[in-house]
Amino acid sequence: MRILTGLQPSGKLHVGNYFGAMQPAVQLQDKGEAFYFIADYHAMTSSQDPAALRENVRELAIDFLACGLDPERAVFFRQSAVPEVNELAWILSTVCPFSLLEKGHSYKDKVANGIAPNHALFAYPVLMAADILLYDSNQVPVGKDQKQHLEMTRDLAGKLNETYGEGTVVVPEPIIREDTAVVVGTDGRKMSKSYHNTLPIFGEEKPSKKIIMKDLVTDSTPLEEPKPVEDSTILALYKLFASEADYNQMVADHLSGGFGYGHFKTRLADAYWDFFAPMRARREEIIADPGYVDAVLKRGAERAREESAKVLARVRKAVGLV
Ligand code: TYM
Repeated sequence: MRILTGLQPSGKLHVGNYFGAMQPAVQLQDKGEAFYFIADYHAMTSSQDPAALRENVRELAIDFLACGLDPERAVFFRQSAVPEVNELAWILSTVCPFSLLEKGHSYKDKVANGIAPNHALFAYPVLMAADILLYDSNQVPVGKDQKQHLEMTRDLAGKLNETYGEGTVVVPEPIIREDTAVVVGTDGRKMSKSYHNTLPIFGEEKPSKKIIMKDLVTDSTPLEEPKPVEDSTILALYKLFASEADYNQMVADHLSGGFGYGHFKTRLADAYWDFFAPMRARREEIIADPGYVDAVLKRGAERAREESAKVLARVRKAVGLV
């Protein structure tokens, strides 16, 4: 079984990225052949800054390794190290109805958020389908915001198989974990860079904790009264970091009254900080070894190209390009 996922290098990784994609990806490393990549072509759809792209790719590589991606078990590479993905994207775009892309939520959201709608942003889901199909992927762990992209991928795979014969490409399944499908941000909406409501995985201690203490939304229930537990952003986040016993205690303390939100926020901030402590330590080790990341990505690219060459040869033959 082949498991594949990608993350865009578009700035600091946040807690939503971790629980939606990275943690499941790390856990799935043992379940099959894992292919994980840095979606640098995709990042260019919303920012065109070469120095920032180089820096963000490097940071993402370090962070994903620090979070437990094991390059002995998973193939880890940059998307652009296998430029053949663009050829498959082209082939897929010939069976992709314009109307399919016009329905894209992510495209509409990004345009609504002020990103200039270039062709690549519109065609983003086709390249994403190519990422997945180029490696005969069976399972794709992602957060819920990528569900529609996975549906489009399945549609395009189906259309290619209908047009050129069953087995031209493998139709993948999304893996979306119920409990972490949508990690909430400090304002209670989905955690997302475009909403400016993120908690970084690898920030500095004081400013990171301050985001919780200062920005996280609460209501105005007085200290002595019981606090609502439904739709509580503090509890939703605490659940991700705390043990079951600590979480149950926190719920009980909400219901009993007598604790203020400042107190709950401090507990949340400490749990969040402690959760990532082993990853922070691993990150320091990785940074201290200057050649490590480049060597990992180089080896990953070689492995990825071996696989992609096989799939692309099959597709080229099916469509009549040989
Ligand atoms: P990206 O870089 O925006 O996000 C990376 C992963 O993090 C998940 N995620 C979340 N999960 C739960 N709650 C949240 N608040 C949250 N925010 C982000 C995303 O769902 C995603 O899984 N298009 C992709 C990158 C990509 C890709 C691929 C993924 C390109 N090609 C092929 C899988 C397969 C993206 O922009 O993710």
